[in-house]
Amino acid sequence: MSDTLFERLGREEGIRNISSDVVDLHLDNPTISARFAASDTTKLKRMVTELFRWS
Ligand code: HEM
Repeated sequence: MSDTLFERLGREEGIRNISSDVVDLHLDNPTISARFAASDTTKLKRMVTELFRWS
C-alpha cells in the first residue's frame, strides 16, 4: 500500500469531515460538553482540522 495517511483519510475534505465529527461528538457528550461552552465551534473545527492535517 503506497497511499499516504493523508490520502487514506480522504485528503483535505476527509480530514475536515473527521474533525467536524470529532468536535460534534465532544459537544454532544453531556459528560464533557460544558468544557466547550465558550468555544467558537467553527474556529474549533478549523483548528482541529489543522492539528490533524499537520500530524
Ligand atoms: C480522534 C480524536 C479524539 C478522540 C477519539 C477523542 C476522544 C475523547 C474521549 C473518549 C473523551 C472522554 C469522554 C468522556 O469522558 O465521556 C474526550 C474528552 C475530551 N476531549 Fe477528546 N478526543 C479526540 C480529540 C480531541 C481534540 C482534538 C480535542 C481538542 C479540541 C479534544 C478535547 C477534549 C476535551 C477538552 C475533553 C474533556 C476532558 C475532561 O474534561 O476531562 N479531544 N475525548
